[in-house]
Order: sequence, then C-alpha cells, then structure tokens
Amino acid sequence: MENKKILVIGGTGMLGKPVAQQLKAEGFNVRLLARNPDKAQKLLGDGYEIVKGDVDNVAALRTALTGVDGVHISLKGGPSEADFDRMDHLATRDIAQTAKELGVGRVTILSAYAVSEEKADTPESSSKLKGEAALKSSGVPYTIFRASWFMESLPMFVQGKSMSLIGDQIHALHWIAVEDYARMVSKSYQTGETLNKELYIFGPEAYTMGDAMKIYADYTGVKVSPISTKMLSIMGALTFNTEWKSTAVLMKHYENWGEDGSPDEANRLLGVPKITLKEWCEKKE
Ligand SMILES: NC(=O)c1ccc[n+]([C@@H]2O[C@H](COP(=O)([O-])OP(=O)(O)OC[C@H]3O[C@@H](n4cnc5c(N)ncnc54)[C@H](OP(=O)(O)O)[C@@H]3O)[C@@H](O)[C@H]2O)c1
Repeated sequence: MENKKILVIGGTGMLGKPVAQQLKAEGFNVRLLARNPDKAQKLLGDGYEIVKGDVDNVAALRTALTGVDGVHISLKGGPSEADFDRMDHLATRDIAQTAKELGVGRVTILSAYAVSEEKADTPESSSKLKGEAALKSSGVPYTIFRASWFMESLPMFVQGKSMSLIGDQIHALHWIAVEDYARMVSKSYQTGETLNKELYIFGPEAYTMGDAMKIYADYTGVKVSPISTKMLSIMGALTFNTEWKSTAVLMKHYENWGEDGSPDEANRLLGVPKITLKEWCEKKE
C-alpha cells in the first residue's frame, strides 16, 4: 500500500468517512475531495490530503484525480429527482471519464442491492443504475459495491422516543455494519481480482426491517411506530416536506424489492462480514 494514493469523494459522509479512515489505517495515502476542507479536517483529523472542490466542477475533479491510483465514490443525491441524477449519475459519469483520461487504476463506488434494470422504478435507483452504466462504459477499471442496508441507517428513523417503520417491509435484509464494509473496500484495493465486478455486500444475518428495528429499539429504549408509505406521502404533500415525500418513494421501492444477488464472491475475495446487529447495538451503547 506504501505510496498508493486513493481519493475518497464523499469522505465526510456517514458511509465514506469510515472508508477513508480504514484506507489510511491500512497504509494508503488518502486524499479527500471536500466542499468544505475545514469541516473535513475537523471530522477526520490529521494525516489526510484535502483538495477543495465540488463534483459539479470538472476542473476541481481533474485536480483531485491527478496523481491518484484509485478513487472511491460515496456520494448521496436527493431528495429531488434532478439532484439524484446530478449526484448518482452525472457525478459518477464525470469522475469515471476523468479517471479514465488521467489513467487512474480503478474507481470503486458504493451502490445499493436494489439497483438493476428491473428495479429502476425510482429516481434514486434509476440514477444509480445510469451511474453504474456510465462507470462501466468509461473503460476505467471499476468495482461496484452493491450493499444491503447499513446498520448505521437505523438511527435515522428515530425522532424523539419513536422509530418509524415505514411501509410494509416484508423482506429479510442482511444488515451490514459500516466497519465491515470499510474493511472490505480497503481490501478490494489490495487485489486485482475485484476489478470490473459488481460485488454484493451483505451482513452476516438477515432481519426484516421491523425485526431489526425491534432489536435496535430494545437497546435504545425507543418505540417502533408503523406508518404506511401512503400516509407519509400525504403528510409530505400537505406540509411541503420533500424529504418525507422522497422517503415514502424510497420505502415503497423497498416494499417491492428484496435482496437478490449473492455475497459469495465478495465474501471470498474480501473476507466475510462478521458484526451482528446485536454486537453493533452493544457497541453503540
Ligand atoms: N444507508 C444505507 O443503508 C445505504 C445502503 C446502500 C447504499 N447507500 C448509499 O450510500 C451513499 C452514501 O450515503 P451516506 O449516508 O454516506 O451519505 P452522506 O452522509 O450524506 O454523505 C454524502 C457525502 O457526499 C458529499 N457531497 C455531497 N454533495 C457533494 C458535492 N456536490 N461535491 C462533493 N461532495 C459532495 C458530502 O460532503 P459534505 O460534507 O460537503 O456534505 C458527504 O461527504 C448514498 O448514495 C446511499 O444511497 C446507503
């Protein structure tokens, strides 16, 4: 890893920061592209090279991508349709094309398990699919991580003492801890076998969203409160809350689509994720 430099885009984010930290811990030189370098420095501390820039700015991308061996993308779009397109599709396209032009060795990206032609029924999933397609057609070597739900998402459903279970979430999901995922991303940079692959990142146990929330609620003392996607959508429309409307669309998508794809290849190449939901909750306490 010595002398290998990886650019992390989205390194201040919930799922990007642990990847930047893990890469650094394993001996990579880590560069961050950050809109606000001071915020990035405060969040991640010393030992990172920080380049100021926005993914909308191709000149800034070019500067950030110059001289790196790889780039990891961990961006988040939404809640508007245009913003999903901007972040999940166009930014990925521009990063991939610039990386190809500059001869960067690989681009890795966090995508999601419910991203495929069949499942492209929301602005987010169709933008992610277009982003994946642009990455593949750019000609730069790539690895796409199609991850299941992260355990770190659970607190996002909590407001006060209540945790919203949105929609009829019947599918069993392999909840993954970001710590396991970050280790897998870092490992992917240490083997050529992960190139030009879509890898499914699934945690060690499967729970429906309701069961996962019950476990989390038991540890944190919150109460799980079901709400339908329709009700959330109506509440969003009445209060002009675009975040609620977008969340209703997202959760409807997850009502429809469970996990398919197999984690076997990712687990063989990158090591089996081990952290269970209960262990994660205990650590969080
Ligand atoms: N939650 C899950 O269970 C799950 C599962 C699978 C996949 N995912 C996907 O994981 C991705 C990352 O999610 P997250 O929760 O880590 O998101 P997040 O915390 O919002 O982080 C997003 C990152 O993108 C950066 N960013 C945003 N706009 C930018 C711009 N114009 N130029 C440069 N950087 C910009 C942010 O930087 P600032 O600090 O400047 O804001 C931040 O570092 C999402 O696409 C999500 O769909 C999530």
